[in-house]
Amino acid sequence: MSDGPNRGIDRRAFVKSALAIGGASALSACLNRTDSGDVPTGSESPPERQHAWNDALARDDHGNAVEPPHRLLLLLDYEGNGTPTVGEREAVATALSTLDRAYAWSHDGLLSTMAYSPAYFARFDASLPESTPLPDPRALASFEDPTLDTPDALLYLASDHAHVLLAAEQALTGEKDTLNGVDVTAGFNGVLDVAQRRTGFKGDGLPAEHQDANGVPTSEPVPEDAPLYMGFKSGFTKTQATEERVTIRNGPFAGGTTQHASYMRLNLEQWYEQDDREARVGKMFCPYHAENDIVEGTGDNLGTDAAMSKAKPAAQAASEDGVVGHNQKMVDVREDGRPIILRRDFDSTDGDHAGLHFVSFQRAIDDFVATRDAMTGDELAGDTPVGRRTNNGILQYMDIANRGNYLVPPRSKRALPTPRGDA
Ligand code: HEM
Repeated sequence: MSDGPNRGIDRRAFVKSALAIGGASALSACLNRTDSGDVPTGSESPPERQHAWNDALARDDHGNAVEPPHRLLLLLDYEGNGTPTVGEREAVATALSTLDRAYAWSHDGLLSTMAYSPAYFARFDASLPESTPLPDPRALASFEDPTLDTPDALLYLASDHAHVLLAAEQALTGEKDTLNGVDVTAGFNGVLDVAQRRTGFKGDGLPAEHQDANGVPTSEPVPEDAPLYMGFKSGFTKTQATEERVTIRNGPFAGGTTQHASYMRLNLEQWYEQDDREARVGKMFCPYHAENDIVEGTGDNLGTDAAMSKAKPAAQAASEDGVVGHNQKMVDVREDGRPIILRRDFDSTDGDHAGLHFVSFQRAIDDFVATRDAMTGDELAGDTPVGRRTNNGILQYMDIANRGNYLVPPRSKRALPTPRGDA
């Protein structure tokens, strides 16, 4: 990859954006600035469920999972014609297992999922089994017109260290012979081509460091300890599905899951310059939280459940309060008291614009669609003062630019699987 874009950029800015730029110079800039690359190597075999990250994540004082700060999504196109060969499958299997051996399955090492799209499975004569429906992506609201992503595969990488993501990418693309002391004997070259890189960050203070992006007012309003651009903490234990709930139970892909990956541009001028804090709390959580001032700072005081037991049903809030909270709208979709999707989203400055890559795992894509329908809340915009996007949670601050659906096979079937899960 060319080093061109970093020429003339001041060093601090370059390091901050190293992951977004990618390539060998970005990797060395990261290594020079941060630790020397001292990252634990992989030892025991990682879990069969690729999405089993929770036991490998850090915890906050309440026991909520803390996701790794650095993220990389590689959209991959199959380079061959027709369907993959046995040799290609072996190369991809070896390349991915090199990552597992090089880095511990930990936030401090490297976490990943390798997933495949409906377009990939359409290459085969056989179709996916009924136990694993994988619909094409589509627009999910009347007011959106996203690009529907059709790469063959999606590799999602997450780590505490940006240099780990850059090094892993270089090993996969054949630009590195050793990875954290492990010999690299196979890459994706000639089999899977990187069609697009998407990058980002999540964690206390990182959005404030990246607020010189389009979509964020120049007054630099993002709270300095916020983990996300919109200023609040997200992903409490009980506002997330369990990994068990999102796991496919039957068929050849049992132990796997499905993944939705969308990208949305954020427009935070009104959020920060016209809405006051009370309005922001009401629109993000629910009006009760705003009126009773129960969210301190970014919301760390909410413990493990965001206090959603205090929220009225969304329809009641819409007619009585004229505002309905983003969190509040989706409580009805809960099962056994918890959502049915597991969110692992992150902020981004891709395209020089503040954005969010919304990545979620769920047993079936329908679970995501049901959750998103609740967030869209079409019925709330009927006879109430709530508009289709105004005072309707956080809809007016985002524009959905991309949507993609994927199947995440269990680890033993993650290398160029057939629709029937056999070799
Ligand atoms: C800029 C985009 C977004 C931001 C900043 C955001 C932020 C938040 C925050 C702060 C909460 C409450 C705390 C928590 O996470 O538990 C929440 C809840 C939630 N969000 Fe989002 N969100 C965004 C987009 C989405 C999208 C696109 C979906 C997909 C449907 C979604 C699904 C959920 C779900 C399922 C919950 C929990 C609902 C429950 O408690 O039952 N969010 N979000």
